[in-house]
Amino acid sequence: MSGNAQKKLYIKTWGCQMNVYDSRRMADILAPLGYRESDSPEDADMVILNTCHIREKATDKVFSDLGRLNKHKQKKEKRGEKMLIAVAGCVAQAEGDVIMERAQYVDMVFGPQTYHELPEMIIRATGERVVNTDFAVESKFDSLPQEHVPQGVTAFLSIQEGCDKFCTFCVVPYTRGAEYSRPVQQIIDEARRLRDSGAKEITLLGQNVNAYHGMAPNGRTMGLAELIAAVAEVEGVERIRYMTSHPRDMDQDLIDAHGNIPKLMPFLHLPVQHGADEILKQMNRKHTADDYRDIILRLKKIRPDINLSSDFIVGFPGETDRHFEELMQLVRDIGFGTSYSFKYSPRPGTPAANMQNIVPEKIKDDRLQTLQNLLFSQHREINETFVGKAVEVLTDGKGNRPSQLHGRTSHNQAIHVTCDPALLGQIVTAKVTSASATALTGEII
Ligand code: SAH
Ligand code: SF4
Ligand code: F3S
Repeated sequence: MSGNAQKKLYIKTWGCQMNVYDSRRMADILAPLGYRESDSPEDADMVILNTCHIREKATDKVFSDLGRLNKHKQKKEKRGEKMLIAVAGCVAQAEGDVIMERAQYVDMVFGPQTYHELPEMIIRATGERVVNTDFAVESKFDSLPQEHVPQGVTAFLSIQEGCDKFCTFCVVPYTRGAEYSRPVQQIIDEARRLRDSGAKEITLLGQNVNAYHGMAPNGRTMGLAELIAAVAEVEGVERIRYMTSHPRDMDQDLIDAHGNIPKLMPFLHLPVQHGADEILKQMNRKHTADDYRDIILRLKKIRPDINLSSDFIVGFPGETDRHFEELMQLVRDIGFGTSYSFKYSPRPGTPAANMQNIVPEKIKDDRLQTLQNLLFSQHREINETFVGKAVEVLTDGKGNRPSQLHGRTSHNQAIHVTCDPALLGQIVTAKVTSASATALTGEII
């Protein structure tokens, strides 16, 4: 496509890393149509809100953003210019019709499995309002462009998407659809292109990334451990991570990969959600607290220094003080270097939304506070064990001060390193001088 004047594109992204990946790919799709990303919505020719539906208030936030955007749109229209407003992502999938009805100035609504059709949708949107929330038969991945707008030294690569697990609290199986694994060759080709555009660290993404079972070139099915080994063969890719994993799919091959693939970083985000078997059962997690403990034991046998992360939900229906104490005990037993913890938020259409014995908001608040106090003290203690040690850091941006760069250690800690700013984008060795619950500070050696 040619002859297109430069157009201004603004994308705002909420939610998980898969949404971040999707936003990048939307920019890739729109680049050949003349759209260049800008960091403000004012004057934009097209605005995409890439939304998340995981917890409540998500939809409210989208509507308040839409209200502001409409003012920009009106101003442009007074000058005889157009601004296309699109709502994408998981709120679009779940509430597309509501959005179209409540916000008449929205031009397009499309779900996570349809954005490869953006060029056609834009053409259609010149004449009508477009809603596209299909779960396409053809995978969008087969029609995404080969070109990438460079993303820097760290890149996300979606390898799997959708979810068949149906945890009772979660909207993802409804907004993203059934589990799908991309073919191996497609992933390796994309890893090479990301490397060519400057990526040194690749995070393989999926809603259940370790359920990956993609078709290899010889027609065999490959699991995540083998795929990681194949990506590790790509020269120039120095670091590999993956997220998010489910305990059910944490097989021995993947655990072993943490011992025998040096490029696989010593960090694992493995959401457990809860520590009481009765709650885990009600959540339909299909694992017990001891199953989780056992996975961690086996992992630590292979990689004793692995840095662990998890997601937790407090205040799920039926959660008693005893259940909550079992969750606290699991956290004490394991020790997490970083974590995400949430109050349970009922989501329309999910089984848990109709469960009895809802936990009062005040108790949810107290439990979240108690849990986070424990978690944050663990994060600090674990980070403090790194003080005085040498760590490998991939620098990825500016630091707190001009003499510093920001980066990530192998263990995935954020770190501010005092060093020559010309070292941006390099893997450097730094000595850790101090640590907090959320970050390290160090100097280059
Ligand atoms: N696929 C991943 C993550 C899903 S969403 C997984 O299976 O672990 C990210 C996190 O949001 C979840 O791990 C969970 O802790 C939290 N979450 C999901 N639904 C929620 C809800 N209804 N209320 C509160 N937290 C929720
Ligand atoms: Fe949601 Fe559970 Fe699927 Fe994760 S495994 S995306 S929490 S349904
Ligand atoms: Fe949110 Fe959808 Fe991701 S609901 S967490 S953006 S899969």
